[in-house]
Amino acid sequence: MDPQLIAQAVALLRAGQLVVFPTETVYGLGANALDPAAVERIFTAKGRPPTSPLIVHVAGVAMARSLALVWPETAEKLAEHFWPGPLTLVVPKRPVICDRITAGLPTVGLRMPRHPVALALLREAGFPIAAPSANPFTRLSPTTAAHVRESLGSSVALVLDGGPCEVGIESTVLSVAGPEPVLLRPGMITREQIEAVIGPVLLAAEAPPGAAHLAPGQHPRHYSPRTPLTIAGQDALPAQGRGVFLFWSKPASASKSILLPKDPSECAARLYGLLHELDGQGWDWIAVEPPPLGPEWQAIQDRLRRAAALGSASLN
Ligand code: TXA
Ligand code: MG
Repeated sequence: MDPQLIAQAVALLRAGQLVVFPTETVYGLGANALDPAAVERIFTAKGRPPTSPLIVHVAGVAMARSLALVWPETAEKLAEHFWPGPLTLVVPKRPVICDRITAGLPTVGLRMPRHPVALALLREAGFPIAAPSANPFTRLSPTTAAHVRESLGSSVALVLDGGPCEVGIESTVLSVAGPEPVLLRPGMITREQIEAVIGPVLLAAEAPPGAAHLAPGQHPRHYSPRTPLTIAGQDALPAQGRGVFLFWSKPASASKSILLPKDPSECAARLYGLLHELDGQGWDWIAVEPPPLGPEWQAIQDRLRRAAALGSASLN
C-alpha cells in the first residue's frame, strides 16, 4: 500500500473522520479511539445501537497495556501466541477509553490485526483505532472494499482497499476480565486452540453471571443477507420461489446448487463474499445445508444461525 495513502488516512483519523481499512477478518470502520466525537460518528454511520461495544485495534501489546487497567497473565500469553491475528481480548479498561466505546461496560475488547495495511495504519497513527465491521447494523460484514462502497458509500472519508480478507469472518472474542476465561464469540481461532495455551475456557452460556462475562451486541439478527436464508437439507428446501442451495455433501435437483469448500478456513474465507454475490442476484431464498460438525466449524455454524435469524422478508 502507498505510504501516502496511509499518511492521508492517519490525517483524516486525526481530524476526527472515519476511515475504512482492511483487516484479515473483515473490513473495519475506523475512528480514533481516543476521540469521543469521532467514535460517535461510527454509531451514526452504521445505525448501530449504543448498547453494542466497539473493538479497539492496537499496534501491539504495549498499546494494549496502555488501555487496559489490568493486563492478566492469560492476556499476555494469548497475545504472544495469537497476535497479530483474529483474536479479540476483553480486559478491564482504563478511563482513557470512553464509555461510548464499551457501551458502558468496565471492559474493552482489544485486538492487534495482522493485515499489513491495518498494521501500517496503526503504527503510523500511534493511537488506537476503534472499529466495528464496516457494514450497516445487522447486515453482512464486508470482505472486500467493493462491499463497503455498496453499503456505506458516502458516509466515510476514505476506503483503503487491501483486497479480499483472508480469514473472512469476524475475530474470536474472549473475555479474560474475570477469574475464568469466557468465549464470547466463536471465530476461526477455536476454543481448543485457546485452551492449548491457557487451559480451560468457558462458553458464554456456562459462565456465572457478572459484568466481566457480558457479551452485549451479540444480536441474533446479525450477519444477514437481504435474501431470506434458511438452514435446510436438500430434501427440505422451500417449496415456493427460485432459490440457491449451498451444500457440502449433496446437490439438490430442483434448484441451483453451489458446493461449499470442505476446508473450514477456505469456507470462512468464501462465505460472506458468496452471500454478498447471491444477494445481488434476486433469488427468493438461499438455503444452506447444516454445516459439518466439529470445533473448527463452530464459527461458521454461529454465523449461519445468525444469518438465518434475519433471513425473512418481514425482518428486513
Ligand atoms: O474481526 C473483527 O473483530 C472485526 C474487525 C474489524 O476487527 N470487528 C468486529 O467488530 O467484528 P464488531 O463491532 O462488528 O463486533 C464487536 C463485538 C461486539 O458486538 C461484542 O459482541 C464484542 O465484540 N465486544 C466488544 N467489546 C466488548 C466488551 N467490552 N465486552 C464484551 N464483548 C465485547
Ligand atoms: Mg459486526
